Amino acid sequence: MAMTTTTDPRPSGRGSLPSPAVTTSYPKDKINVVLLEGVHDRGRTLFESEGFRVESHPASPDPQRLREILAGAHVLGIRSKTHLPADALAAAPRLLAVGCFCIGTDQVDLRSAASRGIPVFNSPFGNTRSVAELTVAEAIALHRRLTVKSEALHRGAWDKSAEGAHEVRGRTLGIVGYGHIGSQVSVLAEAMGMRVVYYDVLPKLPLGNARPLRSLGEVLEQSDVVTLHVPATASTERMIGAAQLARMKPGAFLINNARGSVVDVPALASALREGRLGGAASDVFPVEPSGKHEAFASELCGLSNVILTPHIGGSTAEAQASIAEDVATKLLSFVNRGSTTGSVNVPEVELPDQPMPSGGAGARPHRVLHFHRNVPGVLSTMHGLIARLGANVSAEYLRTKDEVGYVVLDVDPTDAGPILAGLREIPETIRVRVLW
Ligand code: NAI
Repeated sequence: MAMTTTTDPRPSGRGSLPSPAVTTSYPKDKINVVLLEGVHDRGRTLFESEGFRVESHPASPDPQRLREILAGAHVLGIRSKTHLPADALAAAPRLLAVGCFCIGTDQVDLRSAASRGIPVFNSPFGNTRSVAELTVAEAIALHRRLTVKSEALHRGAWDKSAEGAHEVRGRTLGIVGYGHIGSQVSVLAEAMGMRVVYYDVLPKLPLGNARPLRSLGEVLEQSDVVTLHVPATASTERMIGAAQLARMKPGAFLINNARGSVVDVPALASALREGRLGGAASDVFPVEPSGKHEAFASELCGLSNVILTPHIGGSTAEAQASIAEDVATKLLSFVNRGSTTGSVNVPEVELPDQPMPSGGAGARPHRVLHFHRNVPGVLSTMHGLIARLGANVSAEYLRTKDEVGYVVLDVDPTDAGPILAGLREIPETIRVRVLW
């Protein structure tokens, strides 16, 4: 049976850092995977198919219940509502890894988790396709004045006029930010016969027949519909203001499914009211309600041919399934193999499966996973230990990031116990785990 050996960090007397401690062996069905906030079932299925014990909760627990859960969880899956500050992580002695089954990781004290040797994983691109599809739907809806026609008919007004309605075929789509979402939009738009131009601060390979332009201004001037897919940074803050809107074609459309800070909303509302733009769609706003209990207000409310959506660009069942698959796969890869690829807070080390014994006979090498404080001398202490033991190490992997280092050793099974005991004695050791 596949086994994993974990350490239980104890209070340390070394500032906020936990100290390494006793190791205990577990069969996989004794590893508690706890999934909170209604993580999509795909996550549960993946863990169960590998023999792990899974407990699911539909909501975010209150702080007291969270403490109880953390006392026994080896792997914790959360979404955006469950917060894991340093004191919560300190109360999680068995916690090996945290999965944020969402895009953001602000809800976790990442530095504290790293200092305890707890990798945190997320799914930055699990909802990319959903945002791209919404954008394409809006490009068509704006060209056909769909929401205007629909609202009128709801009020009983039968207006069959073709005035102001266009096909998107042959029209020019301008993409600002040709990253994961922007490039997906590019592919979908071309499939509908649109011409695609784009602007990105970095050189990006054009997909299909898309054409990179040299400036934002050129994109604004040439496009019938401009769609924004840039991150919220100092350089993108209000990058679309009155001056940029004035450069857009008369009657063109603007779509913002990126971040609220990117557009000067009062300037956009003026351009729409004055009929200089033909319409707009926005999924994101400078100030967004924190939940259903708070009302939404914006200068864009009530304007004609303006589609407003409550930050649902990435909110689809498919995105939730894709996020669950992505994060569960990263967590499994860490628990089973020690790989930290995709972690946002500890050094990323991609590991192959543990090698099989030569000739297929005997036990395969044991894998020692060692998180330590990233200070000079730790590696030489480790190598001194290995030399003293005369241990047979078949592979060694090392990466460091900020205050944490991560070393992985594939060792002869007879050497694993002594190496483990020796590593625990190194003062900089945060956590050691052995896989076999
Ligand atoms: P990404 O990082 O893959 O792509 C962003 C692109 O913007 C990069 O190619 C970057 O070089 C470019 N860029 C950065 N600054 C720029 C500037 N000043 N001018 C032009 N290009 C610039 O990000 P991804 O995944 O495509 O996401 C894009 C945006 O979509 C982000 O703001 C993200 O927060 C937002 N988003 C919104 C969702 C929603 O629910 N509405 C869901 C997911 C993401």
